[in-house]
Amino acid sequence: MIRARVIATGSYVPEKVLTNFDIEKMVDTSDEWIIERTGINQRRIARDDQAASDLAYEASKSALEYAGLKPKDLDLIIVATVTGDMPLPATACILQHRLGAKKAAAFDVNAACSGFIYGLSIGDKFIRSGSHKRVLVVGTEILSKFTDWADRTTCVLFGDGAGAVILERTEEDRGIIETRIHSDGSMWDLLHTPGGGSKNPPSSETIRKRYHYIKMKGNETFKVAVRMLEDLVIATLKHNKLEPSKLSLLIPHQANRRIIQATAKRLNLPMEKVVMNLDRYGNTSAASIPIALDEAFRAGRIKQDDYILLEAFGGGLTWGSALIKW
Ligand code: UT7
Repeated sequence: MIRARVIATGSYVPEKVLTNFDIEKMVDTSDEWIIERTGINQRRIARDDQAASDLAYEASKSALEYAGLKPKDLDLIIVATVTGDMPLPATACILQHRLGAKKAAAFDVNAACSGFIYGLSIGDKFIRSGSHKRVLVVGTEILSKFTDWADRTTCVLFGDGAGAVILERTEEDRGIIETRIHSDGSMWDLLHTPGGGSKNPPSSETIRKRYHYIKMKGNETFKVAVRMLEDLVIATLKHNKLEPSKLSLLIPHQANRRIIQATAKRLNLPMEKVVMNLDRYGNTSAASIPIALDEAFRAGRIKQDDYILLEAFGGGLTWGSALIKW
């Protein structure tokens, strides 16, 4: 049986740190509120001269180095982002050029915070079909450039970063076991950026209305996220006849510590088996899972044949999971 296996991971976060105390000086909030309601202490902020492809490049280079591969060894590049370099072309094409991955086809995926799971799912299917052998999947975001720094309900949440994995065809009994992706567009307005697209093209009016910034109905999103994620992880494990106790690690999207704790509780998983880094990076949307995966892998928290479960929830609404036997 052909499967896709993660053979390498990489990540990159910008150097600049923005703490909760820094944000206290910008809006009416407090370190205490942010930590209690979200679990976030600080986040990374990209430089003005950095675009999403620059962060993606660093993460991809790190994954390629780990794998001992050259960019020309890649035959597909998938970039998950909602903060790409430009509306046109795809950030994946800019990354392909920067890497010099001349043989790779490249395209972007927009599934917000679930983007990496969507990208992984697509990459897995390309490999299983036999058409492609080595796929680079990247989640990269510069949310700080689309954050309304005067809106305390969103500006405390987001951060910048990128993570990457390289998938390779294998016939071994390990790799990606199953991916699941879901959407419910009826709730698109819970989390969206109204301006800059064909509905509200850029104009002085859209700028005046702050349409180019991310808007979120946080509490409603929170409630749906908890419910959907609990159902999702249970369904994923059940379908694969895997007891939650057999999981070595849960690597969730890093949106909110309370959402992560609720999912872990539903699975009866001790928090030692859950990867959390949102205290340091905040919510980096499509980048959060591959950054957490890279950190866990490089810290020696993942061993061969371990079962790990990735799950995410985000704008769209979208949600999804990936069960991997490492
Ligand atoms: O990444 C993918 C999708 N995103 C998510 O999954 C995010 C989901 N949502 C959340 O993480 C949480 O809803 C938030 C962290 C965004 C908000 O936490 P909450 O417990 O849902 O708070 P809330 O929105 O119900 O607001 C509670 C109170 C409100 O005040 P009143 O109306 O009770 O007086 C807010 O105005 O907290 C107030 N508030 C703040 N206070 C201090 C909202 N933001 C802040 C803030 N500092 N930054």
